[in-house]
Amino acid sequence: MRKKIIAGNWKMNKTPSEAVKLIEELKPLVANDDVDVVFCVPAIDLVPAVEAVKGTNIQIGAENMYYQESGAYTGEIAPNMLTDIGVKYVIIGHSERREYFAETDETVNKKVLKAFEHGITPIICCGESLTQREQGITIDWIRQQIKIAFLNVTADQAKEAVIAYEPIWAIGTGKVATSAQAEEVCAAIRACIGEIYDEATAEAIRIQYGGSVSASSAPELFAMPDIDGGLVGGASLKPDFGKIVNYNK
Ligand code: 13P
Repeated sequence: MRKKIIAGNWKMNKTPSEAVKLIEELKPLVANDDVDVVFCVPAIDLVPAVEAVKGTNIQIGAENMYYQESGAYTGEIAPNMLTDIGVKYVIIGHSERREYFAETDETVNKKVLKAFEHGITPIICCGESLTQREQGITIDWIRQQIKIAFLNVTADQAKEAVIAYEPIWAIGTGKVATSAQAEEVCAAIRACIGEIYDEATAEAIRIQYGGSVSASSAPELFAMPDIDGGLVGGASLKPDFGKIVNYNK
């Protein structure tokens, strides 16, 4: 039985002092030992966030990371900078990074490999545009994203990975995918992992849905057999996130 993982993606919101305030506010609301709870926060918020969640069930994740160890890469964050302060997760290849910061399937793969090398769990994002959905190529597109993201990743590593299926048309639009639409793609992702690796890896890997998840849509989405939680944007910055984390109560 896979443990659900519910992560907030704060995106470019909250200053360090606001971050600590929000964590203090959400702490009591997100207490649920049945699920893994992760707050992915802006780079500058990571240090105070790790401090603020000490002694709670919350883990801190980064929203991005570079695939080199160190050096002349102005503005980037190295993997050992994350592990040094106790960051456990990193979002890789969010559609906003692909759209605005030229991330490609190839850089996603490099970052995934680097994260595993450092013992950081990658939350690997994939998702189709509205045009691709209308063209009927959603599953083909997602399979390609997954196959490239997992190049040279071992089965043991893949078992620990988290995949976030985020249809681009559902992100920040209030237009959540139906549970049937989300389940169809998450099941296809699991089947693809089964083809790349084996049944045991497919059964172990956790697949989240993301895109306008709210307190009202979460219970039905998370009840689907291949949806193991969510990656939540807007609603992760509000007390509503407590309701999403406690969707099973
Ligand atoms: P929203 O929940 O705001 O639609 O954002 C989803 C998302 O992009 C999470 O990574």
